[in-house]
Amino acid sequence: MFEFNTHPPMVSHVQGSPVYIIDDFYKYPEEVEDLFWENELRYHKEGDPGYNGKLFHDMRHHFPNDNLWEVGEYLLDVCGAKYHGSGRDCLSNVFEYEGNDHIDNYWYPHLDAGYTALIYFEGTGTNLYATPNQFEVEECDSIPEHVKPWRSKEDYELLLTFEGKYNRLVLFNGKQFYHGADIYYSPVKRFNQVLFFTDEP
Ligand SMILES: [Fe+2]
Repeated sequence: MFEFNTHPPMVSHVQGSPVYIIDDFYKYPEEVEDLFWENELRYHKEGDPGYNGKLFHDMRHHFPNDNLWEVGEYLLDVCGAKYHGSGRDCLSNVFEYEGNDHIDNYWYPHLDAGYTALIYFEGTGTNLYATPNQFEVEECDSIPEHVKPWRSKEDYELLLTFEGKYNRLVLFNGKQFYHGADIYYSPVKRFNQVLFFTDEP
């Protein structure tokens, strides 16, 4: 199911931090996609305040599969993080939106707990940003995710865009870099898998 190719990652450095790209990652990516779509898709942070399900559709699959451990072990070796953050949890990010907000804004730049891996199946990729000013940092921390997810491009310096190529895996330090979906056209539909890693047990 999760068999993957082990050709060496392409490595580049952003502000001194390695970022990895592994193209053609899964041997059978369509089987992985099918597995996700056999499982329930739910709104992310359902019940929280905000506009999810109204102005945009930010959704997740979340189900266990023990075969995913092996993928995580491999990626831990690549990035040098200490622990699995998501372990056997098969997590997706499914996002649909139509509108004009993407023209002057970036979608929800945020930090994760450590290294983050994404495997793209449909739609756009991911942007990495420089740390924004302190006011912006504090506002992002204090407002629920889906209340004000679109953040002015004026407050962010774009460092890198990973193109969302089919079956491409990207791995970067999500605790160091503000990052978020690269929404540059509308209507858009995105579907990718996400794995998290951490240095904290
Ligand atoms: Fe993230």
